[in-house]
Amino acid sequence: MSELAPAGIDEMAFATAHRVLDLAEIARRNGVEVGKYYVGLGQRRMSVAAEDEDPVTMGAEAARAVLDRAGVAGVRTLVFATESGVDQSKSAGVYAHRLLGLPAHCRVVEIKQACYSATAALQFGLGLVAREPSEKVLVVASDIARYRLGSAGEPTQGAAAVAFLVGANPGLMAIEPVSGIFTAEIDDFWRPNGMSEALVDGKLSLEAYLGALEGAWGDYRSRGGAGFGQIDRFCYHQPFAKMALKAHARLHELAGSDAPAARLDAGLALSREVGNSYTASLYLGLLSLLENDPEDLSGRRVGLFAYGSGCVGEFLAGIVQPGYRTRLRPERTLESLVRRVPVGYEEYRILHELYERPAAQDYGTAAATDGPFRFAGVSGMARRYERRA
Ligand code: CAA
Repeated sequence: MSELAPAGIDEMAFATAHRVLDLAEIARRNGVEVGKYYVGLGQRRMSVAAEDEDPVTMGAEAARAVLDRAGVAGVRTLVFATESGVDQSKSAGVYAHRLLGLPAHCRVVEIKQACYSATAALQFGLGLVAREPSEKVLVVASDIARYRLGSAGEPTQGAAAVAFLVGANPGLMAIEPVSGIFTAEIDDFWRPNGMSEALVDGKLSLEAYLGALEGAWGDYRSRGGAGFGQIDRFCYHQPFAKMALKAHARLHELAGSDAPAARLDAGLALSREVGNSYTASLYLGLLSLLENDPEDLSGRRVGLFAYGSGCVGEFLAGIVQPGYRTRLRPERTLESLVRRVPVGYEEYRILHELYERPAAQDYGTAAATDGPFRFAGVSGMARRYERRA
């Protein structure tokens, strides 16, 4: 049997919502010392969706940036990973497919398992590419994290999307074949049908996350995965920065390593600014690492831990490819952060409530953002999206 070409992540781009709230605003409103959010959770700001944006517009914007560079040649599959989907039946990916002008000969599907699904999409993509190396799979991970106003989860909201192409001979990172998986049914975090905000047992969710890390890491190692000391950088699903730090400390302890645990700072930077982006969050961490680590990471191994409440965890690793820096556009990432319009508590509260408009009622949205795509509202009980010239 001939050896398979390496496969992995070829191009990557990020998009976020167009409003931003400093967590000091929530702290003041909730009568909490701001250090609890800035230091205790490790978060600074969170992106907030304006009236005319949602996971489809953010996901399409990130994907547009990927396709502008890579083109659509070879893209025959689009997997849209989200847990904040906009329809019970129609895939968010089908809306994105039209907005992006993708060819008709492209299979499109939406997948869900809380914050884990983008990693499932990556694995599915790798499978398709192994079968036909000339094909590329476009993965779009996009989510808006929402909890009840005034709840403990409120400062861990956020909104962002990451899009990446899975292909043979990738430009950014070759994914190694070994991975470790852990699944166990648990009520740590869920969102019943008809509810727009997640329900969460916060303390249980922390334990479940760390338990899944332990289970996935054990499976990874037993299947021949690299040792802790052979992994140069780590990225974790990051609902808030302190969670990733707790995970890293737990893994270090589990591995029984004497070596100091590698610092996570470069990978934490982006999510500290946008908040939780659920299934996009791990890949936001990877993009943040590749863009912000001062060292040349070519040839280095990066460990990735995905966690989706409910729960599924997976530990996998990849090798950063030589020349990866020429594929990155950190100035574009920065521009996405800088152009967000700051809102105060009152405007944030109004936007939070607007997001809950009944799906079975027609309405139009004001043109509030200047991104390439906008959510125009609902007519005939169906969602309408527009592409800007
Ligand atoms: N200055 C500095 N630090 C302070 C402080 C202050 N004034 N006041 C408190 N702190 C620290 C605390 O000591 C604590 O730190 P440690 O964890 O290191 O001890 C930290 O701030 C948080 O304080 P609490 O634990 O008291 O916070 P809380 O109980 O009010 O809320 C939470 C924390 C449960 C995580 C809550 O934000 C929440 O429910 N978030 C949503 C659920 C979540 O994100 N779970 C993560 C795992 S599940 C997952 O990853 C999937 C997903 O995306 C949702």
